[in-house]
Amino acid sequence: MGAELPDDAVEAMRRAEVVTVFTGAGMSAESGVATFRDVETGLWQRFDPAQIATPEAWASDPGLVWAWYQWRAHIVHEAAPNRGHRALADLERTHTVLIATQNVDDLHERAGSSSVSHLHGSLFAPRCSNCARPYQGIDAEPEQAVHELRVEPPACPACLSPVRPGVVWFGEGLPDDAWRSAASAFTFADVVLVVGTSGVVYPAAGLPERAAARGIPVIEFNPEPSALTGIATHSIRASAAVGLSAMLDALGASG
Ligand SMILES: NC(=O)c1ccc[n+]([C@@H]2O[C@H](COP(=O)([O-])OP(=O)(O)OC[C@H]3O[C@@H](n4cnc5c(N)ncnc54)[C@H](O)[C@@H]3O)[C@@H](O)[C@H]2O)c1
Ligand SMILES: [Zn+2]
Repeated sequence: MGAELPDDAVEAMRRAEVVTVFTGAGMSAESGVATFRDVETGLWQRFDPAQIATPEAWASDPGLVWAWYQWRAHIVHEAAPNRGHRALADLERTHTVLIATQNVDDLHERAGSSSVSHLHGSLFAPRCSNCARPYQGIDAEPEQAVHELRVEPPACPACLSPVRPGVVWFGEGLPDDAWRSAASAFTFADVVLVVGTSGVVYPAAGLPERAAARGIPVIEFNPEPSALTGIATHSIRASAAVGLSAMLDALGASG
């Protein structure tokens, strides 16, 4: 299965040296990691992720929030990078590729991408809710914990406060380092790719808009229109796996 790629988009990619990529949940959909707007199945079916991913949920029911993120981490752990992740890693053979992801999974890294900024944090970087010290003991969590609705968060070895997920919740600020490196990557890119995001969550969604405002070509890969379609120079209506691997093929075939 292929994807229709506009010649201009392939040409812009061929001329580019620095390609900055903005990814969202759709990037990992073909790895079996459900997007936020997909209905969850099983244990967590009746929970709205938008209610769990909040400081308020953590304050009122930390065991529920911790269990939910453990379950997400388990799904990601069982999942593998898809052809789209691999295409972005392969693009590093010919281009400088800077990825700014809204995803909290590690599939870009596992595919081999070397520059990944996690704008919304990571499932695999829990930290103390009080002293912010990174927590290392996560691998020791019992496997059956992923089948429970409530799991008590571990205690920080330094201050005994509960350890929290290392993700950014609604209403929280973005991690400084990730934000700074992403922000510059969108200003000096030659081309920006926007992959699998609805583009409605700010400030992250403002990054590709900045690039567009500077006249940098923006190429979207998404089977559906998104809030960023309007600023895209080209919108390729294909999945991440199909669209990105087609782009790699097109660059290789005639490059
Ligand atoms: N916790 C929550 O409840 C919640 C809900 C929504 C958004 N968010 C936050 O908002 C951020 C942004 O959301 P988002 O844009 O990443 O996810 P999203 O679920 O809002 O959008 C997913 C996008 O991917 C597209 N898509 C689906 N399958 C695809 C595929 N195979 N290939 C390419 N595209 C595909 C969809 O058309 C959609 O535009 C998230 O990182 C998260 O932090 C959180
Ligand atoms: Zn602590």
